[in-house]
Amino acid sequence: MSKPGDFEAVRKDIVGILKQKPYDDGSIGPVLVRLAWHASGTYCKDSDTGGSNGAGMRYEAEGGDPANAGLQHARVFLEPIKEKHSWITYSDLWTLAGVVAIKAMGGPDIAWKAGRSDFADETLLPPRGRLPDGSQAQDHLRHIFYRMGFNDQEIVALSGAHNLGRCHADRSGFEGAWVNNPTRFSNQYFKLLLKLKWEKKQLNRDGAPWQWVARSAGMDDDDEPLMMLPTDFSLTQDAEFRPWVEKYAEDQELFFRDFSNVFAKLIELGVYRDEDGIARFSHLEKGKAEYRSAPQKSATPQGPGAGKDGEASKAAEENKTGVPAMRAKL
Ligand code: HEM
Repeated sequence: MSKPGDFEAVRKDIVGILKQKPYDDGSIGPVLVRLAWHASGTYCKDSDTGGSNGAGMRYEAEGGDPANAGLQHARVFLEPIKEKHSWITYSDLWTLAGVVAIKAMGGPDIAWKAGRSDFADETLLPPRGRLPDGSQAQDHLRHIFYRMGFNDQEIVALSGAHNLGRCHADRSGFEGAWVNNPTRFSNQYFKLLLKLKWEKKQLNRDGAPWQWVARSAGMDDDDEPLMMLPTDFSLTQDAEFRPWVEKYAEDQELFFRDFSNVFAKLIELGVYRDEDGIARFSHLEKGKAEYRSAPQKSATPQGPGAGKDGEASKAAEENKTGVPAMRAKL
């Protein structure tokens, strides 16, 4: 166990687990970025609920939301880090892992602050259905991201995270990567959105959603095509979004700067800190907050997209038993 508050040691250990040869394209970085985003993207500014504080995905009610399918892998990959640095909260660990992964994959530095706490029960979990649906278009994106407090430019910048990783048939139903090198952060996603000849295609599988596919120069017919979600493609079809796609395609530095700012804002959603930097669960909560970290969970992936359909999350059950959370002073 490291010294409570030694986040540098945690960062180093996260970097150390990123390369996982047999997994996807050889790195768990992309799925860690998606974990940080889904932990935060439940925020609603009107009701002041959701967001990255609490680490609600430990509970089946949030972790089992079909929108979160596959993220159990990310959470389980992080368990050895939690085991070694047991003082850290899951909500800090998940957001920090996203930031560390982006940097390690060639992306910008992103401001990250410690102090999130873990829920001790399910009472403050956000409802399901707050995350975006890739089969929709620009109106839906605005509906979802305005609820979190983002504007059009920020929506486009955030979408640039799809430079990383891939879609999985057993998670979202979509299939393929957005760019040729999905473990290297760049502005390639925006370039390809504008440059390639995208065709609408329903992959050859029962119930598969339609997506956009294309091959870039040098790809063979039997190579897996590149893909765009309907939501990604809609960015090029919208008078307010498209100019930002063009700017980011032309200017990687601008994209990195804007992405860094907007990702830092994303992972702060729903986090209210007292003067010591420790987060409370609501801005109305009074009194001094404690850095409250939940006990370690199961170390095997469960639930949808884990290859064992329908299995309830044993780990989430464990957390419902009221095991006292670990408290640490930072
Ligand atoms: C704009 C609305 C968005 C939609 C509709 C959307 C949808 C999706 C879908 C369907 C997948 C594939 C999941 C799978 O099958 O494994 C995915 C993956 C991913 N998303 Fe998004 N997403 C959105 C925004 C974002 C944002 C804001 C970020 C981060 C800032 C992000 C980061 C990622 C990453 C890194 C992956 C790859 C995960 C992996 O390789 O396992 N997405 N997204």
